[in-house]
Amino acid sequence: MRLDRFLSEASGLTRSLAKKALSRGEITVDGNVVKKGDIKIAHQQVCWEGRYLGLQPPRYIMLHKPQGYISATKEEVHPCVLQLLPAEWAAGLQCAGRLDVDTMGLLLLTDDGKWSHRLRSPKKACNKVYRVDLAEPLTDDVVERFAEGVKLHGEDKATLPATLEVLTPTRVLLTIQEGKYHQVKRMFAAVGNHVIGLHRLQIGEIVLDNSLAPGEWRHLTAEEIASI
Ligand code: URA
Repeated sequence: MRLDRFLSEASGLTRSLAKKALSRGEITVDGNVVKKGDIKIAHQQVCWEGRYLGLQPPRYIMLHKPQGYISATKEEVHPCVLQLLPAEWAAGLQCAGRLDVDTMGLLLLTDDGKWSHRLRSPKKACNKVYRVDLAEPLTDDVVERFAEGVKLHGEDKATLPATLEVLTPTRVLLTIQEGKYHQVKRMFAAVGNHVIGLHRLQIGEIVLDNSLAPGEWRHLTAEEIASI
């Protein structure tokens, strides 16, 4: 990795501030002042004003997303989920998949782009399990229609087969593999119903920890990380 990139990743400095720190002679590599960012760094010891800089290992977070927060890294109309994490530590994390502002439940965040890509890749076909509350009682045909695939408004192709477990006439568990925009709400709209409550419980093998209240988070375990 080039020294300038290493500096911005390891110190949190922007590229231009890292360049200034270099030109001011604040950076040493193995004890020698280096003023240009184009040298390659492998195992050398890099210091900024005498402080050793190391790359942080990637971070993987499970968040119980509450309602009213957007799955983004910048605040817009609503607060963003990163505000639920320690500010000095949250920079660089991205949501691995999104939930609507009014959806609650399991949201994964990481700064490991490859992991996030694997999780979202259609090839990986990760099951996502949602608990869905409906405005109208479920009609008998819906289990079969979802198993066959339904056409969403504005789409040419039907959805992939999805499974429904009926808990009560207005509460179901839905398992889908895709992650189209507003997919669950649009699937129920396609069969004449309306989602009034949505909660994601599981992605692949990763199950929302029921000790986490809305707004709380924890690091993923090594097993959970390796399951993706
Ligand atoms: N499907 C939706 O409609 N909304 C979500 O937040 C997630 C899946």
